[in-house]
Amino acid sequence: MAKISVFGIGYVGVVSAACLARDGHDVIAVDVDPGKIKAINSGQSPIVEEGIDELVAEVVKAGKLTATDDFRAAVLATDASFICVGTPSAPDGSVGLSYVTSVCDSIGAALRDKPTHHSVVVRSTIVPGSTVDSCIPALEKASGKVAGKDFGVGYYPEFLRESTAIADYYDPGLIVFGYLDEGTRDILEGLNKDLPCDMHQVDIRTAEMVKYTSNTWRAVKVTFANEIGNIAKASGIDGQSVMEILCSDDKIAMSSYFMRPGFAFGGSCLPKDVRALRYLANSTDTPAHMLNAVLEANEAQIAKAEQMVVDSGSKKVGFVGISFKPGTDDLRESPLIALAARLIGRGIDVNIYDPFVQEAFDTETPGAGRGNEHVPDLEQRLQPDLDALIEGSGTVLVGNLYKDTVERLKAASEHRQIVDLTRLNREQTSGANYQGICW
Ligand SMILES: NC(=O)c1ccc[n+]([C@@H]2O[C@H](COP(=O)([O-])OP(=O)(O)OC[C@H]3O[C@@H](n4cnc5c(N)ncnc54)[C@H](O)[C@@H]3O)[C@@H](O)[C@H]2O)c1
Repeated sequence: MAKISVFGIGYVGVVSAACLARDGHDVIAVDVDPGKIKAINSGQSPIVEEGIDELVAEVVKAGKLTATDDFRAAVLATDASFICVGTPSAPDGSVGLSYVTSVCDSIGAALRDKPTHHSVVVRSTIVPGSTVDSCIPALEKASGKVAGKDFGVGYYPEFLRESTAIADYYDPGLIVFGYLDEGTRDILEGLNKDLPCDMHQVDIRTAEMVKYTSNTWRAVKVTFANEIGNIAKASGIDGQSVMEILCSDDKIAMSSYFMRPGFAFGGSCLPKDVRALRYLANSTDTPAHMLNAVLEANEAQIAKAEQMVVDSGSKKVGFVGISFKPGTDDLRESPLIALAARLIGRGIDVNIYDPFVQEAFDTETPGAGRGNEHVPDLEQRLQPDLDALIEGSGTVLVGNLYKDTVERLKAASEHRQIVDLTRLNREQTSGANYQGICW
Protein backbone atom coordinates (compact mmCIF):
# COMPACT_ATOMS: atom_id res chain seq x y z
CA MET A 1 0.00 0.00 0.00
CA ALA A 2 1.21 3.50 -0.83
CA LYS A 3 1.31 6.76 1.09
CA ILE A 4 -0.20 9.49 -1.08
CA SER A 5 -0.74 13.22 -0.64
CA VAL A 6 -3.56 14.73 -2.72
CA PHE A 7 -3.25 18.47 -3.41
CA GLY A 8 -6.58 20.20 -4.00
CA ILE A 9 -9.66 18.91 -2.19
CA GLY A 10 -12.21 19.74 -4.87
CA TYR A 11 -14.39 17.31 -6.85
CA VAL A 12 -11.47 15.34 -8.23
CA GLY A 13 -9.30 15.57 -5.12
CA VAL A 14 -11.95 14.45 -2.61
CA VAL A 15 -13.11 11.52 -4.69
CA SER A 16 -9.52 10.40 -5.45
CA ALA A 17 -8.43 10.81 -1.84
CA ALA A 18 -11.43 8.97 -0.40
CA CYS A 19 -11.27 6.11 -2.94
CA LEU A 20 -7.49 5.70 -2.48
CA ALA A 21 -8.05 5.58 1.29
CA ARG A 22 -10.83 3.01 0.88
CA ASP A 23 -8.41 0.91 -1.22
CA GLY A 24 -6.11 0.80 1.83
CA HIS A 25 -3.62 3.57 1.02
CA ASP A 26 -2.67 6.20 3.59
CA VAL A 27 -3.85 9.52 2.22
CA ILE A 28 -3.19 13.09 3.24
CA ALA A 29 -5.40 15.69 1.55
CA VAL A 30 -3.91 19.18 1.22
CA ASP A 31 -5.70 22.42 0.42
CA VAL A 32 -5.42 26.16 0.96
CA ASP A 33 -9.07 26.34 2.06
CA PRO A 34 -9.33 25.92 5.85
CA GLY A 35 -13.05 25.09 5.59
CA LYS A 36 -12.35 22.05 3.41
CA ILE A 37 -9.56 20.84 5.71
CA LYS A 38 -11.82 21.17 8.73
CA ALA A 39 -14.64 19.32 6.95
CA ILE A 40 -12.44 16.35 6.02
CA ASN A 41 -10.86 16.08 9.46
CA SER A 42 -14.31 15.98 11.04
CA GLY A 43 -15.33 13.19 8.67
CA GLN A 44 -17.45 15.34 6.35
CA SER A 45 -17.24 15.77 2.60
CA PRO A 46 -16.66 19.30 1.29
CA ILE A 47 -18.55 18.42 -1.91
CA VAL A 48 -21.98 16.98 -2.72
CA GLU A 49 -21.69 13.69 -4.55
CA GLU A 50 -23.47 10.32 -4.45
CA GLY A 51 -21.94 8.15 -1.70
CA ILE A 52 -19.12 10.55 -0.77
CA ASP A 53 -20.43 11.52 2.72
CA GLU A 54 -20.45 7.91 3.88
CA LEU A 55 -17.09 7.16 2.25
CA VAL A 56 -15.30 10.18 3.76
CA ALA A 57 -16.77 9.43 7.19
CA GLU A 58 -15.65 5.79 6.93
CA VAL A 59 -12.03 6.41 5.81
CA VAL A 60 -11.46 9.32 8.20
CA LYS A 61 -12.74 7.21 11.08
CA ALA A 62 -10.42 4.39 10.02
CA GLY A 63 -7.48 6.82 10.12
CA LYS A 64 -6.73 6.34 6.40
CA LEU A 65 -7.53 9.94 5.36
CA THR A 66 -6.49 13.18 7.04
CA ALA A 67 -6.33 16.75 5.75
CA THR A 68 -3.83 19.56 6.31
CA ASP A 69 -2.56 22.87 4.97
CA ASP A 70 1.03 21.85 5.77
CA PHE A 71 2.37 21.12 2.27
CA ARG A 72 5.86 20.26 3.44
CA ALA A 73 4.74 17.75 6.08
CA ALA A 74 2.42 16.11 3.55
CA VAL A 75 5.22 15.66 1.00
CA LEU A 76 7.70 14.36 3.57
CA ALA A 77 5.19 11.84 4.94
CA THR A 78 4.17 10.32 1.57
CA ASP A 79 5.68 8.50 -1.46
CA ALA A 80 3.72 10.38 -4.09
CA SER A 81 1.81 13.63 -4.48
CA PHE A 82 -1.20 13.91 -6.77
CA ILE A 83 -1.99 17.42 -8.00
CA CYS A 84 -5.77 17.90 -8.38
CA VAL A 85 -6.13 21.69 -8.18
CA GLY A 86 -8.33 23.65 -10.58
CA THR A 87 -7.20 24.84 -14.02
CA PRO A 88 -9.82 27.47 -14.88
CA SER A 89 -9.80 29.20 -18.27
CA ALA A 90 -7.76 32.38 -18.58
CA PRO A 91 -9.64 35.30 -20.20
CA ASP A 92 -8.05 34.47 -23.59
CA GLY A 93 -9.25 30.83 -23.38
CA SER A 94 -5.88 29.37 -22.52
CA VAL A 95 -5.59 26.94 -19.63
CA GLY A 96 -4.97 28.60 -16.25
CA LEU A 97 -1.88 26.94 -14.80
CA SER A 98 -1.22 29.26 -11.85
CA TYR A 99 -2.68 26.92 -9.17
CA VAL A 100 -0.82 23.94 -10.61
CA THR A 101 2.54 25.72 -10.80
CA SER A 102 2.00 27.20 -7.34
CA VAL A 103 1.52 23.68 -5.94
CA CYS A 104 4.61 22.54 -7.89
CA ASP A 105 6.60 25.34 -6.23
CA SER A 106 5.45 24.16 -2.80
CA ILE A 107 6.03 20.46 -3.47
CA GLY A 108 9.44 21.26 -5.01
CA ALA A 109 10.49 23.24 -1.93
CA ALA A 110 9.63 20.24 0.27
CA LEU A 111 11.49 17.86 -2.05
CA ARG A 112 14.67 19.86 -1.47
CA ASP A 113 14.83 18.27 2.00
CA LYS A 114 13.52 14.83 1.13
CA PRO A 115 16.21 12.17 0.79
CA THR A 116 13.94 9.36 -0.45
CA HIS A 117 12.22 8.94 -3.82
CA HIS A 118 9.02 10.89 -4.37
CA SER A 119 6.72 10.99 -7.39
CA VAL A 120 4.77 14.06 -8.41
CA VAL A 121 1.73 13.13 -10.48
CA VAL A 122 -0.44 15.77 -12.14
CA ARG A 123 -4.13 14.87 -12.34
CA SER A 124 -5.47 18.32 -13.21
CA THR A 125 -6.44 18.85 -16.84
CA ILE A 126 -3.58 20.69 -18.53
CA VAL A 127 -2.86 21.19 -22.23
CA PRO A 128 -0.18 19.09 -23.96
CA GLY A 129 3.28 20.31 -23.07
CA SER A 130 2.27 21.80 -19.69
CA THR A 131 3.82 19.07 -17.54
CA VAL A 132 7.14 19.27 -19.34
CA ASP A 133 7.21 23.02 -20.01
CA SER A 134 5.66 24.38 -16.79
CA CYS A 135 5.38 21.77 -14.01
CA ILE A 136 8.80 20.16 -14.30
CA PRO A 137 10.73 23.48 -14.47
CA ALA A 138 8.82 24.73 -11.39
CA LEU A 139 9.54 21.51 -9.49
CA GLU A 140 13.23 21.47 -10.51
CA LYS A 141 13.74 25.13 -9.65
CA ALA A 142 12.15 24.83 -6.21
CA SER A 143 13.81 21.51 -5.35
CA GLY A 144 17.24 22.04 -6.92
CA LYS A 145 16.83 18.47 -8.19
CA VAL A 146 16.45 16.79 -11.58
CA ALA A 147 13.09 15.36 -12.69
CA GLY A 148 13.15 11.71 -13.71
CA LYS A 149 16.37 11.18 -11.75
CA ASP A 150 16.08 12.69 -8.27
CA PHE A 151 12.28 12.63 -8.17
CA GLY A 152 9.56 11.09 -10.33
CA VAL A 153 6.98 12.80 -12.53
CA GLY A 154 3.80 11.53 -14.14
CA TYR A 155 0.66 12.80 -15.83
CA TYR A 156 -2.45 10.76 -15.03
CA PRO A 157 -5.70 12.47 -16.04
CA GLU A 158 -8.99 11.87 -14.28
CA PHE A 159 -12.11 11.10 -16.35
CA LEU A 160 -14.78 10.92 -13.64
CA ARG A 161 -18.12 12.62 -14.11
CA GLU A 162 -19.64 14.58 -11.27
CA SER A 163 -22.77 12.83 -9.91
CA THR A 164 -21.35 9.35 -10.71
CA ALA A 165 -17.80 10.10 -9.59
CA ILE A 166 -17.22 7.18 -7.20
CA ALA A 167 -18.71 4.65 -9.61
CA ASP A 168 -16.56 6.14 -12.41
CA TYR A 169 -13.45 5.93 -10.24
CA TYR A 170 -13.85 2.16 -9.90
CA ASP A 171 -15.20 1.56 -13.41
CA PRO A 172 -13.64 4.11 -15.76
CA GLY A 173 -13.86 3.93 -19.53
CA LEU A 174 -10.09 3.95 -19.75
CA ILE A 175 -6.93 4.63 -17.80
CA VAL A 176 -4.06 6.49 -19.42
CA PHE A 177 -0.88 7.87 -17.93
CA GLY A 178 2.59 9.05 -18.91
CA TYR A 179 5.69 9.08 -16.74
CA LEU A 180 9.36 10.01 -16.72
CA ASP A 181 10.63 7.20 -14.51
CA GLU A 182 10.02 3.59 -13.55
CA GLY A 183 9.20 4.45 -9.91
CA THR A 184 6.24 6.60 -10.97
CA ARG A 185 5.12 3.98 -13.48
CA ASP A 186 5.15 1.29 -10.78
CA ILE A 187 2.99 3.42 -8.45
CA LEU A 188 0.42 4.20 -11.16
CA GLU A 189 0.39 0.63 -12.47
CA GLY A 190 -0.13 -0.68 -8.93
CA LEU A 191 -3.06 1.68 -8.25
CA ASN A 192 -4.86 0.72 -11.45
CA LYS A 193 -4.01 -2.94 -11.99
CA ASP A 194 -7.37 -4.29 -10.81
CA LEU A 195 -9.61 -1.86 -12.71
CA PRO A 196 -11.85 -3.40 -15.40
CA CYS A 197 -10.54 -1.34 -18.34
CA ASP A 198 -7.54 -0.86 -20.60
CA MET A 199 -4.51 0.79 -19.01
CA HIS A 200 -2.59 2.83 -21.61
CA GLN A 201 0.99 3.78 -20.75
CA VAL A 202 2.14 6.53 -23.12
CA ASP A 203 4.38 9.59 -23.20
CA ILE A 204 3.26 12.49 -21.04
CA ARG A 205 2.12 14.75 -23.93
CA THR A 206 -0.05 11.98 -25.39
CA ALA A 207 -1.72 11.44 -22.00
CA GLU A 208 -2.40 15.19 -21.76
CA MET A 209 -3.89 15.19 -25.28
CA VAL A 210 -6.09 12.15 -24.58
CA LYS A 211 -7.78 14.04 -21.73
CA TYR A 212 -8.61 17.04 -23.95
CA THR A 213 -9.71 14.78 -26.78
CA SER A 214 -12.02 12.90 -24.44
CA ASN A 215 -13.70 16.02 -23.08
CA THR A 216 -13.93 17.68 -26.47
CA TRP A 217 -15.45 14.52 -27.93
CA ARG A 218 -18.10 14.54 -25.21
CA ALA A 219 -18.84 18.19 -26.07
CA VAL A 220 -19.01 17.45 -29.80
CA LYS A 221 -21.47 14.62 -29.19
CA VAL A 222 -23.78 16.84 -27.14
CA THR A 223 -23.69 19.59 -29.77
CA PHE A 224 -24.27 17.12 -32.59
CA ALA A 225 -27.24 15.55 -30.82
CA ASN A 226 -28.68 19.01 -30.13
CA GLU A 227 -28.31 20.06 -33.76
CA ILE A 228 -29.99 16.87 -34.98
CA GLY A 229 -32.72 17.44 -32.37
CA ASN A 230 -33.28 21.01 -33.57
CA ILE A 231 -33.47 20.00 -37.23
CA ALA A 232 -35.72 17.04 -36.43
CA LYS A 233 -38.10 19.14 -34.34
CA ALA A 234 -38.42 21.74 -37.10
CA SER A 235 -39.51 18.90 -39.40
CA GLY A 236 -42.00 17.51 -36.87
CA ILE A 237 -39.79 14.58 -35.85
CA ASP A 238 -38.75 13.54 -32.32
CA GLY A 239 -34.96 14.02 -32.30
CA GLN A 240 -34.49 11.99 -29.13
CA SER A 241 -36.02 8.95 -30.80
CA VAL A 242 -33.77 9.49 -33.82
CA MET A 243 -30.64 9.62 -31.67
CA GLU A 244 -31.68 6.61 -29.58
CA ILE A 245 -32.10 4.55 -32.73
CA LEU A 246 -28.76 5.74 -34.12
CA CYS A 247 -26.99 4.87 -30.87
CA SER A 248 -28.36 1.32 -30.98
CA ASP A 249 -25.92 0.68 -33.86
CA ASP A 250 -22.53 0.07 -32.31
CA LYS A 251 -21.44 -1.89 -35.39
CA ILE A 252 -21.07 1.13 -37.69
CA ALA A 253 -22.60 4.37 -36.39
CA MET A 254 -20.99 4.21 -32.93
CA SER A 255 -17.91 2.23 -33.93
CA SER A 256 -14.36 3.55 -34.06
CA TYR A 257 -14.29 2.95 -37.83
CA PHE A 258 -14.62 6.63 -38.76
CA MET A 259 -12.50 7.88 -35.87
CA ARG A 260 -9.08 7.54 -37.45
CA PRO A 261 -7.29 10.79 -38.28
CA GLY A 262 -6.41 10.97 -41.98
CA PHE A 263 -7.86 12.40 -45.17
CA ALA A 264 -11.21 13.99 -46.00
CA PHE A 265 -14.45 12.04 -46.30
CA GLY A 266 -16.04 11.65 -49.70
CA GLY A 267 -17.93 9.20 -51.86
CA SER A 268 -21.42 9.14 -53.21
CA CYS A 269 -23.20 9.50 -49.85
CA LEU A 270 -21.55 11.47 -47.05
CA PRO A 271 -20.95 14.86 -48.75
CA LYS A 272 -24.29 14.77 -50.56
CA ASP A 273 -26.22 13.79 -47.45
CA VAL A 274 -24.60 16.33 -45.14
CA ARG A 275 -25.39 19.02 -47.75
CA ALA A 276 -28.99 17.83 -48.03
CA LEU A 277 -29.55 17.81 -44.26
CA ARG A 278 -28.09 21.30 -44.08
CA TYR A 279 -30.46 22.37 -46.86
CA LEU A 280 -33.38 20.90 -44.93
CA ALA A 281 -32.24 22.81 -41.82
CA ASN A 282 -31.98 26.05 -43.79
CA SER A 283 -35.40 25.54 -45.31
CA THR A 284 -36.91 25.39 -41.81
CA ASP A 285 -34.81 28.34 -40.59
CA THR A 286 -32.92 26.03 -38.25
CA PRO A 287 -29.27 26.92 -37.65
CA ALA A 288 -26.86 24.15 -38.68
CA HIS A 289 -23.59 25.40 -37.21
CA MET A 290 -22.08 21.98 -36.92
CA LEU A 291 -23.03 20.76 -40.39
CA ASN A 292 -21.53 23.96 -41.81
CA ALA A 293 -18.35 23.35 -39.83
CA VAL A 294 -18.19 19.70 -40.96
CA LEU A 295 -18.26 20.65 -44.64
CA GLU A 296 -15.84 23.52 -44.10
CA ALA A 297 -13.38 21.34 -42.16
CA ASN A 298 -13.56 18.63 -44.82
CA GLU A 299 -12.65 21.16 -47.51
CA ALA A 300 -9.80 22.39 -45.36
CA GLN A 301 -8.40 18.85 -45.09
CA ILE A 302 -8.21 18.66 -48.90
CA ALA A 303 -6.48 22.07 -48.94
CA LYS A 304 -4.06 20.81 -46.30
CA ALA A 305 -3.09 17.80 -48.44
CA GLU A 306 -2.70 20.10 -51.45
CA GLN A 307 -0.31 22.32 -49.52
CA MET A 308 1.71 19.29 -48.38
CA VAL A 309 2.25 18.27 -52.00
CA VAL A 310 3.08 21.85 -53.02
CA ASP A 311 5.57 22.07 -50.15
CA SER A 312 7.29 18.91 -51.41
CA GLY A 313 8.34 21.05 -54.39
CA SER A 314 7.80 18.26 -56.89
CA LYS A 315 6.30 18.87 -60.34
CA LYS A 316 5.53 15.17 -60.92
CA VAL A 317 3.24 13.47 -58.42
CA GLY A 318 2.19 9.83 -58.38
CA PHE A 319 -1.15 9.13 -56.68
CA VAL A 320 -1.63 5.71 -55.11
CA GLY A 321 -5.41 5.56 -55.10
CA ILE A 322 -7.94 7.91 -56.71
CA SER A 323 -11.32 6.33 -55.85
CA PHE A 324 -12.97 7.50 -52.65
CA LYS A 325 -11.76 4.43 -50.75
CA PRO A 326 -9.88 1.22 -51.52
CA GLY A 327 -11.85 -1.76 -52.81
CA THR A 328 -14.05 0.20 -55.21
CA ASP A 329 -13.73 2.08 -58.51
CA ASP A 330 -16.31 4.65 -57.38
CA LEU A 331 -15.00 8.15 -58.07
CA ARG A 332 -18.07 10.12 -57.06
CA GLU A 333 -16.97 13.01 -54.82
CA SER A 334 -13.69 11.27 -54.12
CA PRO A 335 -11.57 13.79 -52.21
CA LEU A 336 -8.57 12.35 -54.06
CA ILE A 337 -10.18 13.44 -57.35
CA ALA A 338 -10.63 16.93 -55.90
CA LEU A 339 -7.01 16.95 -54.73
CA ALA A 340 -5.65 15.70 -58.07
CA ALA A 341 -7.69 18.33 -59.95
CA ARG A 342 -6.32 21.12 -57.77
CA LEU A 343 -2.74 19.95 -58.31
CA ILE A 344 -3.26 19.64 -62.08
CA GLY A 345 -4.67 23.17 -61.99
CA ARG A 346 -1.37 24.27 -60.45
CA GLY A 347 0.54 22.79 -63.40
CA ILE A 348 1.64 19.65 -61.55
CA ASP A 349 1.82 16.44 -63.60
CA VAL A 350 -0.35 13.82 -61.85
CA ASN A 351 -0.22 10.11 -62.64
CA ILE A 352 -2.27 7.51 -60.85
CA TYR A 353 -2.03 3.91 -59.68
CA ASP A 354 -5.44 2.54 -58.68
CA PRO A 355 -6.04 -1.18 -59.26
CA PHE A 356 -9.83 -0.89 -59.02
CA VAL A 357 -10.26 2.07 -61.37
CA GLN A 358 -7.70 0.45 -63.67
CA GLU A 359 -9.70 -2.78 -63.74
CA ALA A 360 -12.86 -0.90 -64.61
CA PHE A 361 -11.15 0.66 -67.65
CA ASP A 362 -9.28 -2.55 -68.62
CA THR A 363 -12.45 -4.64 -68.57
CA GLU A 364 -14.43 -1.89 -70.25
CA THR A 365 -16.87 -1.85 -67.36
CA PRO A 366 -19.75 0.39 -68.48
CA GLY A 367 -19.32 2.70 -65.49
CA ALA A 368 -15.52 3.08 -65.85
CA GLY A 369 -14.43 6.56 -64.82
CA ARG A 370 -17.95 7.44 -63.73
CA GLY A 371 -18.09 10.12 -61.08
CA ASN A 372 -14.94 11.87 -62.23
CA GLU A 373 -15.93 15.37 -63.11
CA HIS A 374 -12.67 17.13 -62.48
CA VAL A 375 -9.57 15.22 -63.57
CA PRO A 376 -8.89 15.59 -67.31
CA ASP A 377 -7.56 12.56 -69.21
CA LEU A 378 -8.07 10.25 -66.26
CA GLU A 379 -7.57 7.05 -68.25
CA GLN A 380 -4.30 8.31 -69.76
CA ARG A 381 -3.00 9.21 -66.33
CA LEU A 382 -3.49 5.67 -65.01
CA GLN A 383 -0.28 3.72 -64.52
CA PRO A 384 -0.82 -0.01 -63.91
CA ASP A 385 2.73 -0.58 -62.68
CA LEU A 386 3.33 0.78 -59.16
CA ASP A 387 7.12 0.59 -59.48
CA ALA A 388 7.02 2.62 -62.70
CA LEU A 389 4.75 5.18 -61.00
CA ILE A 390 7.20 5.50 -58.10
CA GLU A 391 10.21 5.81 -60.40
CA GLY A 392 8.48 8.43 -62.54
CA SER A 393 7.35 10.63 -59.63
CA GLY A 394 9.18 13.17 -57.50
CA THR A 395 6.51 12.81 -54.82
CA VAL A 396 4.31 9.79 -54.20
CA LEU A 397 0.95 10.57 -52.60
CA VAL A 398 -0.57 7.64 -50.73
CA GLY A 399 -4.32 8.20 -50.89
CA ASN A 400 -5.62 4.64 -50.50
CA LEU A 401 -3.91 1.73 -48.83
CA TYR A 402 -3.74 -1.48 -50.89
CA LYS A 403 -2.17 -4.36 -48.98
CA ASP A 404 0.28 -5.41 -51.70
CA THR A 405 1.64 -1.86 -52.11
CA VAL A 406 2.65 -1.26 -48.50
CA GLU A 407 6.14 -2.77 -48.50
CA ARG A 408 7.05 -1.21 -51.86
CA LEU A 409 5.88 2.22 -50.69
CA LYS A 410 7.78 1.90 -47.43
CA ALA A 411 10.90 1.09 -49.43
CA ALA A 412 10.17 4.02 -51.77
CA SER A 413 10.33 6.45 -48.86
CA GLU A 414 14.11 5.85 -48.87
CA HIS A 415 14.51 7.63 -52.21
CA ARG A 416 11.21 9.40 -52.95
CA GLN A 417 9.21 12.02 -51.12
CA ILE A 418 6.06 10.50 -49.68
CA VAL A 419 2.90 12.37 -48.73
CA ASP A 420 0.82 9.87 -46.76
CA LEU A 421 -2.90 10.45 -46.19
CA THR A 422 -3.65 6.95 -44.83
CA ARG A 423 -0.65 5.77 -42.79
CA LEU A 424 1.58 3.21 -44.39
CA ASN A 425 3.42 2.42 -41.23
CA ARG A 426 1.98 2.83 -37.72
CA GLU A 427 5.45 3.47 -36.34
CA GLN A 428 6.38 6.27 -38.77
CA THR A 429 5.80 9.97 -38.21
CA SER A 430 6.71 12.96 -40.39
CA GLY A 431 10.37 13.65 -41.04
CA ALA A 432 12.97 13.70 -43.84
CA ASN A 433 11.33 12.32 -47.04
CA TYR A 434 8.11 11.33 -45.36
CA GLN A 435 5.11 13.54 -44.46
CA GLY A 436 1.97 12.09 -42.83
CA ILE A 437 -1.14 14.28 -42.88
CA CYS A 438 -1.97 13.91 -39.14
CA TRP A 439 1.10 12.19 -37.72
N1 LIG B 1 -14.81 18.27 -11.82
C1 LIG B 1 -14.71 17.26 -12.66
O1 LIG B 1 -15.69 16.54 -12.97
C2 LIG B 1 -13.37 16.92 -13.25
C3 LIG B 1 -13.19 15.66 -13.85
C4 LIG B 1 -11.95 15.35 -14.37
C5 LIG B 1 -10.93 16.28 -14.31
N2 LIG B 1 -11.13 17.51 -13.77
C6 LIG B 1 -10.01 18.44 -13.70
O2 LIG B 1 -9.41 18.27 -12.40
C7 LIG B 1 -8.96 19.53 -11.92
C8 LIG B 1 -9.65 19.87 -10.60
O3 LIG B 1 -11.03 20.04 -10.84
P1 LIG B 1 -12.07 20.15 -9.65
O4 LIG B 1 -13.42 20.24 -10.28
O5 LIG B 1 -11.79 19.09 -8.66
O6 LIG B 1 -11.64 21.58 -9.05
P2 LIG B 1 -12.20 22.31 -7.76
O7 LIG B 1 -12.22 23.76 -8.07
O8 LIG B 1 -13.46 21.64 -7.28
O9 LIG B 1 -11.10 22.03 -6.66
C9 LIG B 1 -9.81 22.56 -6.71
C10 LIG B 1 -9.28 22.62 -5.28
O10 LIG B 1 -7.91 23.05 -5.34
C11 LIG B 1 -7.70 23.89 -4.25
N3 LIG B 1 -6.49 24.70 -4.48
C12 LIG B 1 -6.34 25.77 -5.27
N4 LIG B 1 -5.08 26.22 -5.20
C13 LIG B 1 -4.42 25.40 -4.37
C14 LIG B 1 -3.10 25.34 -3.90
N5 LIG B 1 -2.17 26.20 -4.31
N6 LIG B 1 -2.77 24.35 -3.06
C15 LIG B 1 -3.68 23.44 -2.67
N7 LIG B 1 -4.96 23.44 -3.08
C16 LIG B 1 -5.32 24.41 -3.91
C17 LIG B 1 -8.97 24.70 -4.11
O11 LIG B 1 -9.09 25.28 -2.82
C18 LIG B 1 -10.00 23.62 -4.39
O12 LIG B 1 -10.38 22.97 -3.18
C19 LIG B 1 -9.21 20.55 -13.04
O13 LIG B 1 -8.07 20.63 -13.85
C20 LIG B 1 -10.35 19.91 -13.80
O14 LIG B 1 -10.37 20.36 -15.15
C21 LIG B 1 -12.33 17.83 -13.21
